[in-house]
Amino acid sequence: MRIQLEALQRDALASLQAAESVADLEQIRVQTLGKKGALTQLLRGLGGVSAEERPILGELANALKAAFNEALTARLERLQQRDLEIRLQAERLDVTLPGRRPPLGGVHPITRALGEIIRIFSGMGFPPATGPEVEDDWHNFGALNIPADHPAREMHDTFYLPPGPQGQKRLLRTHTSPVQIHVMENRPPPLRIIAPGKVFRCDSDLTHTPMFHQVEGFLVDEGVHFGQLKGILSRFLQLFFERDLPVRFRPSFFPFTEPSAEVDMGCLFCNGQGCRVCKGNGWLEVLGCGLIHPAVLDNVGIDREKYSGFAFGMGVERLAMLKYGIQDLRLFFENDVRFLEQHARL
Ligand code: PHE
Repeated sequence: MRIQLEALQRDALASLQAAESVADLEQIRVQTLGKKGALTQLLRGLGGVSAEERPILGELANALKAAFNEALTARLERLQQRDLEIRLQAERLDVTLPGRRPPLGGVHPITRALGEIIRIFSGMGFPPATGPEVEDDWHNFGALNIPADHPAREMHDTFYLPPGPQGQKRLLRTHTSPVQIHVMENRPPPLRIIAPGKVFRCDSDLTHTPMFHQVEGFLVDEGVHFGQLKGILSRFLQLFFERDLPVRFRPSFFPFTEPSAEVDMGCLFCNGQGCRVCKGNGWLEVLGCGLIHPAVLDNVGIDREKYSGFAFGMGVERLAMLKYGIQDLRLFFENDVRFLEQHARL
């Protein structure tokens, strides 16, 4: 039996050394010390040995157990250490790799153009004001000297909304001019305002979108005249386009201004020579303006004998297309990231 014990100790220790995984170790432990393990089997035979030999063999068995456990722990630690090293190798990070930058957003070209327009007019003493996008008939048309059935209403393809709580006609504003009415109703002259915002027309083709942006500007004071309007708008165009191009005021018609004018600027792309953008005539139409019609002053209760004013309105998409060389209006609203990245500034 002693020989068997000694043989078992040799074999068990040898197989621990040979084990290549934590699972192997567990198997060897069960085979040796488990209920049906080799040592357990051997000790069952202890009852058959003589009383003198029994303690000696018992001691030997205990020594075997201790040696086995010690070798098991050592091997286990060794294998765990090896596994850890393998994992560390496999999961190694290359800290010298460049980081992944999250993509940065930027300011949309329409927002940029709006910002530049607002900045220039702020510098000339015109602070911004806003008005509602859902308007009533009076602010969008009536007060601006566009009575019902007036043919000028057909210049605006209006989105009408269901009537308001008191049955009033409601619509999406077709221009920013109603902000003139809101401001003049609520504040006494002298007034000097610009009003940037969204406007809506039931129109959609290559050069029209149902929503676009305008900036309205107006001034009401004593002794206002057309020369001041010409000066302000010429200077604005110079600053906005960063070029000193010729500007001309061509007679036109708006119901809320008299006289009215369309402002043209020498073509940015051909210096007035005539090209595709200016359709060959050398001029680009950039905004509408005029002296505020006395009937509009009457409608908001401003004394037409004492005060006069001028007003102008411009389309932001059009100005942005000219300034940034954007050929297609639809690009502004398609949100193609390549377009936005090309024009975005922080
Ligand atoms: N509201 C006009 C339009 O949308 C523009 C304009 C504003 C013209 C102010 C004259 C004065 O076409």
